[in-house]
This record gives sequence, C-alpha cells and structure tokens, in this order.
Amino acid sequence: ETYDIAVIPGDGIGTEVTSAAMEVLDTVAENHGFQLERSTYDWGTERYLDEGAMMPDDGLDRIESADSIFLGAVGHPEVPDHVTLNGLLLPIRKGFDQYICKRPNKLFEGIESPLRGYEAGDIDLVVYRENTEGEYANVGGREHRGFSNEVAVQSGLFTRKGTERIVRSAFEAATEREGHLTSITKSNAQAHSMVFWDDIVKEVSEDFPEVEVDSLLVDRASMDLVRRPEEFDVVVASNLFGDISTDIAAIITGSLGLAPSGNINEENDYPDMFEPVHGSAPDIVGQGIANPLASILTGAMMFEYLGDGKEAAAEDIWNAVEAQLADESAPRTPDLGGDAKTVDVVSDLSDRL
Ligand code: NAI
Ligand code: MG
Repeated sequence: ETYDIAVIPGDGIGTEVTSAAMEVLDTVAENHGFQLERSTYDWGTERYLDEGAMMPDDGLDRIESADSIFLGAVGHPEVPDHVTLNGLLLPIRKGFDQYICKRPNKLFEGIESPLRGYEAGDIDLVVYRENTEGEYANVGGREHRGFSNEVAVQSGLFTRKGTERIVRSAFEAATEREGHLTSITKSNAQAHSMVFWDDIVKEVSEDFPEVEVDSLLVDRASMDLVRRPEEFDVVVASNLFGDISTDIAAIITGSLGLAPSGNINEENDYPDMFEPVHGSAPDIVGQGIANPLASILTGAMMFEYLGDGKEAAAEDIWNAVEAQLADESAPRTPDLGGDAKTVDVVSDLSDRL
C-alpha cells in the first residue's frame, strides 16, 4: 500500500533534516510493508527571492489531496520572519483548518535536562496549542500600523468553535494519559479573550469529570514549566502562549533538536502537516550537524496519523530513537553535546531499525 506525502523541505536546515528523516521513514515503511510516494515542493524563501512568493497561488490546491504533508522549516536571514511565516506555514495551517498543534516532549534516558535533578521519565508532557486563530489571526483588516507608523494595532480572535474544539481535544488527550490538564491563559490582563477561554474550559470540563484541571497564568506557567515540569501532563493553550510554552518544554527535555510536532484536524478530509518544532537554524546551516531526530520523531507522529495500523511503524521509530539516545557510544550531534554529523545519527538509527 502506498501513501502520498507532500514534502516541503523549506529553508536552512529544513532541507537537511527532511532528507535525513525521509531516509529513515523509507526504511521503516519497508519493514512494515508499505510505501511513501513523495512529491517534493521547492517552496520557501529561495522561491520568494526569485518569484516574490513563498509558494504558488494555487499551492494549497496542489497538496490538498495528499495523505499527509511533511515540512522541514522556513526562515531566512535576508527576509523578515513575518513574511516567511505568513507566506507558507500559516496559510497551510489555516487553509486546511489544522486547529490542533500537538507537541509532545519527554525527557529521554541519556539526555541531560538543563534542570537539575531530573531523570528520564520525570518530564513527559504534551502541549495542545490552538493553531488557527487567537493572537495570530488577522481580524478583518483591523491590524495596521498607523499615525505615520507611530501606532500599531494587533488584536486577537477567539471563537467559540475554535476554542471549544482545541479544549475538547486536549481533554480527550488527558483521558488517555494521566488525566491532568493545565490550561494556560492571561485572564487577569486579557479580560475578554482569556476569560472567554476560561469559561469554555469550565464548560467542557463538565463532560470530563475524571480529568483534573489546573488553570495557570502564562507567566506563572512558564515558571512552573522550569520549576516543577513533572506536574504537567496535557497542556492546552492559545496560539501565542502555546508557541512560547512549547519552546520551554523542548529545552527542558534537552534540545529543540528532539522536539516533533503535528498540525492536525482529524475531522476534515484535508491532509495534516507534520514538522519539527525548530526553525531553519541559520547559525548551523550547511555544516551537516543539524540534529535530525526532531524531524525523524515528527515522521513517527505522521505515521500515527496515517492510520490503518501504522502505529506499529511509529513505535519502532520512537523505540529506536530512545535506544540510540540511551546508548552512550551512539553518535550525537553538537546540540546534545556530541560531535557527530547528521548522517552519522541517521546511519546508526537505520542499523537499529
Ligand atoms: P531555530 O529553531 O531555528 O534555532 C534556535 C537554536 O536552536 C539555534 O541555536 C539552532 O542552531 C538550534 N537548533 C534548532 N534546531 C536544531 C537542530 N535540529 N539541531 C541542532 N540545533 C538546532 O530558531 P530561531 O533561531 O529563533 O529562528 C531561525 C529562523 O527559523 C527564523 O527565520 C525563524 O523565523 C524560523 N523559525 C521557523 C520555524 C518553523 O519553520 N516552524 C519555527 C521557529 C523559527
Ligand atoms: Mg515557536
């Protein structure tokens, strides 16, 4: 059986980690008797510099029938980040209504957390970040810079539908995990959007009496993610707060180079999009030292959502990565304190698979 994957390597180390991941995914697919048929798109900043757009006008039409989308990273030192993000990533997330940005983080054996005293298994959480509205929405032309560029207006959009569905998905995830949900807001300062969010969390919680709910302000939550990360299980947060807390969650579990993510909507027929949390890392591009594990684990997440029993293939990847990290003699990239190259990590992992 064959799955169509739209692959968008993007910019910087996005291309390096994507080809690394594809090699591993092919191996695993073959082991499990299926195939990935890839269409690769050269969308990104090089295209923007040549043609003035990150992707073609009909970009979404071209990939909408794929079974899944795999993306590397976007971002380029010569182009403002709001151009690259709004030109490619956000249109796909919003266009395909991928309202869940799911980002799991756990502290693996063999990885040293920058937090003292934490060992493998102590930190194991997943963030459900709202992905289609909130602080990153453009509310019908209200956003602007005005008064001769001396004033800027940037608002946020929180709908009942948009808020309720991410909150409900997070509650469902909590029932399948430790039964603990933390909702991150800033309801003391943002008296409309965040109080609305709190109200919806309360409402939805009535359908999940077995889930214990904590509500934390984002400043306090940021502190607690560093001070007592073991208390987090499932986290639900708006687009902006989810963005911030997932970088914290990634670094307390070792490196951005280990953090996978998925942009998901299981209700519609559009493809989901899987991408590592990290960006294009211009500081290390071209050196062959990018950690490919984030994008490889991203591939595992993609398999989990391809359905039809691909969970076993996903599990093989998680297990091989865990075994590699636990093995002191295995190659490691510099972000994890080693001196190995991307290709060394991939070939060691392929042997384990
Ligand atoms: P970044 O994630 O690219 O890099 C942050 C730090 O982590 C850098 O020191 C980098 O070398 C390191 N790092 C990241 N991934 C790594 C990996 N796989 N292996 C080893 N080290 C890794 O974030 P930064 O520096 O804030 O942004 C750089 C560019 O990436 C910007 O243009 C930004 O807009 C873009 N970006 C894109 C994202 C995406 O495509 N989803 C997400 C975040 C940033
Ligand atoms: Mg981010």
